[in-house]
Amino acid sequence: MKLATTLALCLGIAQQASAFQDWIDRTIAHTGEPIGKEIDYNGLTLYVSKPACKKPKKTAVIYITDVFGINLTENKLLADSFSRAGYLTITPDMFAGQPAPADLNTPGFNASAFLAAHGPAVADPKIDDAIAYARASSSCGNGGGDGDCKIALTGYCYGGRYAFRFVAGGKGGDVAFAAHPSALEEGEVEAVEGPASVAAAEIDDLLPAQQRHRIEELLLQTGQPYQMSLYSGTFHGFGVRANVSDPEQKFAKETAFLQAVHWFDSWA
Ligand SMILES: *[C@@H]1O[C@H](CO)[C@@H](O)[C@H](O)[C@H]1NC(C)=O
Ligand SMILES: *[C@@H]1O[C@H](CO)[C@@H](O)[C@H](O)[C@H]1NC(C)=O
Ligand SMILES: *[C@@H]1O[C@H](CO)[C@@H](O)[C@H](O)[C@H]1NC(C)=O
Repeated sequence: MKLATTLALCLGIAQQASAFQDWIDRTIAHTGEPIGKEIDYNGLTLYVSKPACKKPKKTAVIYITDVFGINLTENKLLADSFSRAGYLTITPDMFAGQPAPADLNTPGFNASAFLAAHGPAVADPKIDDAIAYARASSSCGNGGGDGDCKIALTGYCYGGRYAFRFVAGGKGGDVAFAAHPSALEEGEVEAVEGPASVAAAEIDDLLPAQQRHRIEELLLQTGQPYQMSLYSGTFHGFGVRANVSDPEQKFAKETAFLQAVHWFDSWA
């Protein structure tokens, strides 16, 4: 009898674990065809992934890409993954159709010039537009811009900084998640007035350990809920461009996605 109970318990846990993995496998697409649509909104291209469920969540996700933009299939697929988790997901084209080349060492590509040309003065208005589009959409909250739609920002590398920027006072975001943010300034962390969560890579020249620890100190001082999660065996970019044949990287990419989803559901 005792043995049977133990067996049943083990089986129960195993079943739950596989249901959990099933949810992950049904929700996160690493490969395949994107399911969202590109639309034009006041001259800005938005990649829109709508939740298929009848009752979408009250929170819309604004997805701020890395320098590869909406041209990178993995960015579209991850945006789609958020929509399968129940959120209207809006990914603005941050680079007006001209993202960085897949190989950043391509001759003639000047990374510092590219970044200088796509700083906050250019990027913030695009994100403002994406938020306005989300708020007015019938696929978020009660729909129709009645203020019921909460805004979650998810940002990767280049985009991570903007997730932080948009939970500062008056910027319109309710909650932020950033994976391996680059060029994030101390003042931008100090200005946070909403919950902020970070997924960091073990090996990351753009967010080395010392800087990560500094962000931790600053998050603590904000008095907001915060989270700093470090993933072993990962490199800069893993939240989007992981090698999913490597079990450690696959785990990290999927868990960073779950980190964002649980963060948004808990704090938005
Ligand atoms: C990137 O995607 C946009 C929108 O689909 C397209 O207009 C543009 O030509 C693409 N750019 C590159 C470099 O592929
Ligand atoms: C790259 O751009 C920066 C900033 O605009 C500039 O100072 C630098 O000279 C450029 N480098 C090359 C190799 O063109
Ligand atoms: C991806 O990971 C697998 C398994 O670790 C490895 O065999 C493969 O070489 C990796 N691919 C790249 C492009 O690094």
